[in-house]
Amino acid sequence: MPRKVILDVDPGIDDAVALCMALFNPGLEVVAVTAVGGNVPPAQATRNVQVILEQVDPPRWPRIGAASEPDEPLPVDGRHLHGIDGLGGANFEVAELRSRHPSEKVICDAVRADPDSVTIIALGPLTNIARAFQRDPELPIGQIVMMGGAVSGPGNITPTAEFNIYCDPQSARKVFRSRSTKTLIPLDVTNRLVLSYDLFNRLPDESTKVGSFLRKILPPAFRNYRRQFGLEGIHVHDSIALLAAIRPELFTMQEMAGDVETSGNLTTGATVFDRRRVPAWRHNMAVVVDMDTAEVMEQIVRLLSDAARM
Ligand code: BDR
Ligand code: CA
Repeated sequence: MPRKVILDVDPGIDDAVALCMALFNPGLEVVAVTAVGGNVPPAQATRNVQVILEQVDPPRWPRIGAASEPDEPLPVDGRHLHGIDGLGGANFEVAELRSRHPSEKVICDAVRADPDSVTIIALGPLTNIARAFQRDPELPIGQIVMMGGAVSGPGNITPTAEFNIYCDPQSARKVFRSRSTKTLIPLDVTNRLVLSYDLFNRLPDESTKVGSFLRKILPPAFRNYRRQFGLEGIHVHDSIALLAAIRPELFTMQEMAGDVETSGNLTTGATVFDRRRVPAWRHNMAVVVDMDTAEVMEQIVRLLSDAARM
């Protein structure tokens, strides 16, 4: 039986790539795609979820959750990398923009329909997941797999904070402190993989829906990464997090005790792990510390090629 997952996303180029990998995967049943503000403001994130689904047209459409405004305005966005609309500035039309239930309600309903068996793959700020716990404190989520934070490397927004956590540290703290089973894929690991032009050339071609979509959104991201970081390729943090959820054997994980700094001029949004010789905090999540980078890259290309064939 396919594994039931919810993808919580703030599309975002790497969110969009992860969605393409998940929506056509026969091992997964994507019961919902819930939008959250992050790389783009909430309304744009919701629109982008609909754009992606319309562009790639998966065999089965998941429910869509609408992003609502966060408690605090987003302190930053990702448009400098992901484009003005979050999808490379490609200016996609949407056929029909219907009013949607808020993401946290969609999450609660989907999880309650299948207690203890839904995995949430959280690829943006943790606003929706924290709100879902606020609505339903005993929400029986099977597992939460989250892309975010940094264990020993620097952040990518401040010297200490990674984007997803920095956008909404209060929510991240609530989720980190929740009793659910959690896996974190931090920046230290996702930064190790760069999707190069050579790999881009191996992606499905324009004649397929997935290929045509990817070939519209990725080239602007390549230009932005070169201009801003001098990199000949792009990071695909969220695609790696998706793979950690579905192919954990490609990753090395360690049980750790983690929390989030919610204030501090220099440290807001930093993830903090108790790595003392004799830790005082209790382990509360598995953290990815290493991966088979070559195989992860191969799997990304393979899943996208499979998606284009369906
Ligand atoms: C994370 O931030 C976003 O810009 C990406 O989509 C990813 O989820 C990486 O720090
Ligand atoms: Ca993201």
